[in-house]
Amino acid sequence: MKNPTSIKKKADQYNDPSHNYLRYWDGRDYENAAEQIAISRLLKGKRFKHAADIGGGYGRLCVFLKEFADKVTLAEPSRQQLDIGKEFLKDEADIDMVLTQADDLKFKAGELDLITMIRVMHHLPDPAPEFRELARVLSKDGYLILEVANYAHGRNRVKHFLKGQRLPTDPVDIRSEKNKREEEIPFVNHNPKTVQKQLAHAGLKVEKSLSVSNLRSPALKKLLPRSAMLAAERVMQPALAKTYFGPSVFFLIKKAS
Ligand SMILES: C[S@@+](CC[C@H](N)C(=O)[O-])C[C@H]1O[C@@H](n2cnc3c(N)ncnc32)[C@H](O)[C@@H]1O
Repeated sequence: MKNPTSIKKKADQYNDPSHNYLRYWDGRDYENAAEQIAISRLLKGKRFKHAADIGGGYGRLCVFLKEFADKVTLAEPSRQQLDIGKEFLKDEADIDMVLTQADDLKFKAGELDLITMIRVMHHLPDPAPEFRELARVLSKDGYLILEVANYAHGRNRVKHFLKGQRLPTDPVDIRSEKNKREEEIPFVNHNPKTVQKQLAHAGLKVEKSLSVSNLRSPALKKLLPRSAMLAAERVMQPALAKTYFGPSVFFLIKKAS
């Protein structure tokens, strides 16, 4: 491993016993289902040999990924997340767990034909080293699904428009002042157009995109039944993809050549 101190730093928050990421998902069934809808749509009709969920936390999506791949590996830099994962995935002995970070992956070149990296980009203000590693371990015909925490979402567009401002192209730090003072790990939102350029620089090409979690709002969740939210979400994901409307953008990515 190249740099154990940077691994500690990046996984710090997820190693803190007071930060229970499993509990974070309480009350977020809509978002969880919206992400699974997006992945199913992007992978429709495809089957893989070896999938890895990079920065997969405690393995929230690993069982679901078994629908698409013969073998699934949870790849995660936080020891605590993997420990929670042992309990969460206790009936899934065929899912491997690897302690590894996205800029220094413990996989051979071309070893993976499906990679997912969901909800990790908000910790990566400069994802260039991670994109290079993802390109290295992805097989020639393999696919990467990358979730991007999206700064260019509908509400921000309106806000910037009303202020007569252009949307920033660089990542925007969205930590509270307190979290910045306490040096919490980075928490940024990206401009999806910039991310596409960064991917291209690493030899990766976006084939499809979806706008995801379009109705993420506590008020709407109280108002509408989940089935209605998800029915609307299904329609909105492809319809709003080009405008990057939702807070989350899912890219389906291949190697450029
Ligand atoms: C918000 S959680 C998302 C977990 C999982 N992907 C999910 O969607 O449920 C972010 C995860 O990214 C991991 N992480 C942070 N920096 C990382 C890096 N440089 N490489 C890989 N994973 C990282 C954290 O340890 C944490 O488990």
